[in-house]
Amino acid sequence: MVTAIYPGSFDPAHLGHLDVARRGAQIFDRLIFAVNAGQSAKTRLFTVEERVELARVALADVPNVIVDSFQGLLVDYARQVGARVIVKGLRTVADFGDEFQQAHMNGALMPGIESVFLMTRPEYAFMSSTLLKEVARLGGRIGGMVPPGVEQALRQRFGTLEPV
Ligand code: PNS
Repeated sequence: MVTAIYPGSFDPAHLGHLDVARRGAQIFDRLIFAVNAGQSAKTRLFTVEERVELARVALADVPNVIVDSFQGLLVDYARQVGARVIVKGLRTVADFGDEFQQAHMNGALMPGIESVFLMTRPEYAFMSSTLLKEVARLGGRIGGMVPPGVEQALRQRFGTLEPV
């Protein structure tokens, strides 16, 4: 039984994140979509509870995905849930340096933990939660980039919901 953790801020989760989660769930027995409740909570648009709920709804059809949150070191959480794999998505070469450092730091803190990288599918390679929030805030179209619940939540948050 191999448990993998897919950690991130997911503020909010977009289709690129959900695609990595679904693909990871096909490789590993159990995938924990782990929302970081860490220090920079003030700079987040959504609370950790909201981020968890949005992801939970979007991944409800995948039986071996569990959506959870964690605080503190990722490796401590990995030990707590019995995970020995960390899954990350890689969009472009720009992601590589940071991911390289994190993978080796996590490996130094918890010998035996493996980081596995899934290439983001080309159609999602340009997506970032930061950009999506900016587009939504300015009233741009985000349909087809985020799941319906996230689109609704973003448009509500920014008051850009069209009347029905
Ligand atoms: O979506 P993000 O913000 O790129 O995710 C970064 C995340 C949550 C994976 C990373 O910041 C993390 O693992 N934070 C937990 C604290 C920790 O363990 N830091 C050392 C990691 S090398």
